[in-house]
Amino acid sequence: MDREKVDLTGAPATMLATLYSKAVDARSAGSVLHDETAARAVDRIDHDFSRTGLPARDGISAVLRSKEFDRRAREVLANQPELTVLHLGCGLDTRVYRLDPPPTVSWYDVDYPAVIELRRRLYPERPGLFPTARSVEDPGLLDGIPGDRPVLVLAEGVTLYLRTAQGLATFRRIVEHFPAGTLIFDGYSSAGIWLQQRTGVVKASGARLEWAINDPEELTTLVPGLVFDEEWWFPSPADLRAHYPWFQRQVLRALFASPFKRLGRGLTYHFGSTR
Ligand SMILES: C[S@@+](CC[C@H](N)C(=O)[O-])C[C@H]1O[C@@H](n2cnc3c(N)ncnc32)[C@H](O)[C@@H]1O
Repeated sequence: MDREKVDLTGAPATMLATLYSKAVDARSAGSVLHDETAARAVDRIDHDFSRTGLPARDGISAVLRSKEFDRRAREVLANQPELTVLHLGCGLDTRVYRLDPPPTVSWYDVDYPAVIELRRRLYPERPGLFPTARSVEDPGLLDGIPGDRPVLVLAEGVTLYLRTAQGLATFRRIVEHFPAGTLIFDGYSSAGIWLQQRTGVVKASGARLEWAINDPEELTTLVPGLVFDEEWWFPSPADLRAHYPWFQRQVLRALFASPFKRLGRGLTYHFGSTR
């Protein structure tokens, strides 16, 4: 079978790093996600993955972040089987195959056209899955997506690539379009954005980062209707114990308890009545 050539720059290039970390995890003893689909995708892509800029030790952090997103998404899906899922900035993540939602769920994998085109070549179709080739910032993002059911919005490693005004406008459109919903994403403080801009993956991609989320409550005034539920850190305490050497564990624990804990963290919001 021919291998797929990829020539991506900017934000789309960053998804290769997170995909690669899942493939490395799948092939390691004691794998966390067992993401065989990601491993097969990496085999099919003709790309020098050493150029993604992700240091080996950071791969496990990306995998554990996905594990936590999966866990939280599974919880929502278990409580609301009749759901629309917007997986924003999905990249080549295989979440829909990992979670395997029932056919009552409509799942929209949203990313730039070049990314969605690649997904179509790498991954199988399945009932209820709608690959959606659009920018998350596109005012027409929700055109054609029925607004008659609650929505679960998942955006992992994405808000930092959106422009602030456009990201907020997308959240407002979602709140207006659906009767109720849960939003799960990661957000970065101003200092976090500054730091992320200097990490290997982002530098290698050439992406310019902008949208900082400092106070999570602030979003509820900028996006009327949104209710802030929870701020959470990855890796979880159990994963810290299981996957990190002693010294790194102490550093991360100290960071999560310090005034710098908002450099990067998970955020959960809801709107309408989802329960
Ligand atoms: C770091 S990758 C994360 C990919 C995936 N969520 C994961 O965890 O593996 C960032 C992704 O966000 C996508 N992205 C960034 N800005 C976007 C936009 N305005 N519209 C659609 N996708 C966007 C990129 O194309 C890329 O796939």
